[in-house]
Amino acid sequence: LFAAVEMAPRDPILGLNEQFNADPNPAKVNLGVGVYTDENGKLPLLACVKAAEAQLVEAARARGYLPIDGIAAYDKAVQGLVFGEGSDILAAGRVATVQALGGTGGLKVGADFLKKVNPGAKVLISDPSWENHRALFTNAGFTVETYPYYDASRQGVNFDAMLAALNGAAAGTIVVLHACCHNPTGYDISTAQWDAVIEAVKARKLVAFLDMAYQGFGDGIAEDGAVIGRFVQAGIDFFVSTSFSKSFSLYGERVGALSVVCENKEEAARVLSQLKIVIRTNYSNPPTHGAQVVATVLTTPALRQQWEQELAGMRNRIKAMRTALVERLKAAGVKQDLSFITTQRGMFSYSGLTKPQMERLRGEFGVYGVDSGRICVAALNEKNIGYVAESIAKVI
Ligand code: LMR
Repeated sequence: LFAAVEMAPRDPILGLNEQFNADPNPAKVNLGVGVYTDENGKLPLLACVKAAEAQLVEAARARGYLPIDGIAAYDKAVQGLVFGEGSDILAAGRVATVQALGGTGGLKVGADFLKKVNPGAKVLISDPSWENHRALFTNAGFTVETYPYYDASRQGVNFDAMLAALNGAAAGTIVVLHACCHNPTGYDISTAQWDAVIEAVKARKLVAFLDMAYQGFGDGIAEDGAVIGRFVQAGIDFFVSTSFSKSFSLYGERVGALSVVCENKEEAARVLSQLKIVIRTNYSNPPTHGAQVVATVLTTPALRQQWEQELAGMRNRIKAMRTALVERLKAAGVKQDLSFITTQRGMFSYSGLTKPQMERLRGEFGVYGVDSGRICVAALNEKNIGYVAESIAKVI
């Protein structure tokens, strides 16, 4: 039966973890996967999460099946976070939200649903994009192409080319957009540029799918989420996937969501009914723990405040590490101007290093990043940053 099954390649991001764990080099540093570690190199358990878990243990409940679309209080809390508490479209019941298995789960539920309603559509992802976007939409049955995004020569976004591609896309084309903290480049577009994108989406009748895996890691929760409000204002129906893996440091709990903005309440009910079929036929219904923790934190004012502080702490530490990396690289003898690292946002820096340089970093120095040159600056700390900078200097 399996004689003809070929060996699949390692996952370009998660596969690095396997290689990293097997590497005996005592100086090794994992800047591959997008995971935040604290100043001691440890994955944090947020205090707000610990407090919510203590409450949940105290009021321990039996674990029945959750509704197919997840915990109602969780879905409502996600909506408040993404669309703003008390926003008009929420009051009007125009948003269908389901709990999902992380941001990836939200994307996949949305992709499977889109394949039913818009089977012939093409999907456009940014060039480059998160490695899994292409694979996920391809596996959902779509033809995936790219729109121009990163421009190495300007150390930023080639926005004119991006916009031209959107304006040239056929009606119904699904466009995957990074709401904030673009993965892998770290370059976001400006508010004025977002407005031009929104105009193109509306004029060309494109289907916008916003991937918001890093809300709060750019400028703040409301600031990073503002783009969602602009799509709403424009009167567009669109998709948003949410992840709490990073913002709650709950990677292993697979806690995320998918929200679909619809024309009206009745349409939202129909869309929700279809999303439930996608979920039911894939994994039946979602797990309890992570969503309960997030819902508890988001709906308990003191815990919510604590979360916002802890998230700001992560955001600010990453920014400090960006500045420190630029300084350390200079101190290690790198002549070229790498100050672009401080203008990038979120967990990643697109370093500009080539695949052979990334391979050397791994092989000779045990410094792991993605072959595309992406490094996770959220995993830098005072103890490893000097070694990382010296290693990079040696391969440049
Ligand atoms: C990443 O890009 O490293 C993260 O989003 C983790 C993942 O699932 O790839």
